[in-house]
Amino acid sequence: MKVVAINGSPHKRGNTYHALAEVGKQLQENGIDFEIIHVGNQMIRGCIACGGCAKNKDEKCVMATDSVNDCIQQMKAADGIILASPVFYAGIPGTMKSFLDRAFYVSSSNGNLFRHKVGAAVIAVRRTGGSSTFDSMNHYLNYSEMILATSNYWNIIHGRTAGEVLQDAEGVQIMQVLGRNMAWLLEMREQTKESVVAPNSVSKTYTNFVR
Ligand SMILES: Cc1cc2nc3c(=O)[nH]c(=O)nc-3n(C[C@H](O)[C@H](O)[C@H](O)COP(=O)(O)O)c2cc1C
Repeated sequence: MKVVAINGSPHKRGNTYHALAEVGKQLQENGIDFEIIHVGNQMIRGCIACGGCAKNKDEKCVMATDSVNDCIQQMKAADGIILASPVFYAGIPGTMKSFLDRAFYVSSSNGNLFRHKVGAAVIAVRRTGGSSTFDSMNHYLNYSEMILATSNYWNIIHGRTAGEVLQDAEGVQIMQVLGRNMAWLLEMREQTKESVVAPNSVSKTYTNFVR
């Protein structure tokens, strides 16, 4: 089994990375492959709401010049997905937001590519805005009918300069517990895939609150 983690920080080895490394260590100790995909340092523009992904049904965003389409396929192939990000102005940094809007819109308009994968959001923050960013990131996982792995607190770790989060003992523990719970959920999902039948996917009802 494999978990891919999307690192939405501009820093390759910043606090978001260190938080992920703690989760990843636990996954690997439980025999699960773990890969970090760094998107936060890339040029990724936002969704242009053209509807091309829904029309073409090719599991692709029409903007093909960046790594979003490759990442979608890596996420589709994985058993679990972690969305990880620092906090910018109490929210998701722009590049990560652009990535998530496009990747998850392609997924939902192409048969829900990430449905029933095990997922989690992870946040690195200096001081304030962790909860609102965690909430925003969870919107993508919830919308996708994913199975959410949890910890013993919200998945938020505190620090400013790269690696400072490792001094946040509670945050480190949160990441470790998350990793172990995620590994356990993945194992349960794997062992029951033949014996426990998943509910069928339904055609989505849209009510736009317009009369
Ligand atoms: C543009 C910008 C905005 C930020 N906004 C916040 C904020 O709203 N709240 C906060 O506590 N930290 C804020 N930070 C600090 C980062 O979230 C924090 O340093 C985090 O650990 C960085 O993670 P990284 O090393 O993975 O990039 C901001 C940093 C930048 C560069």
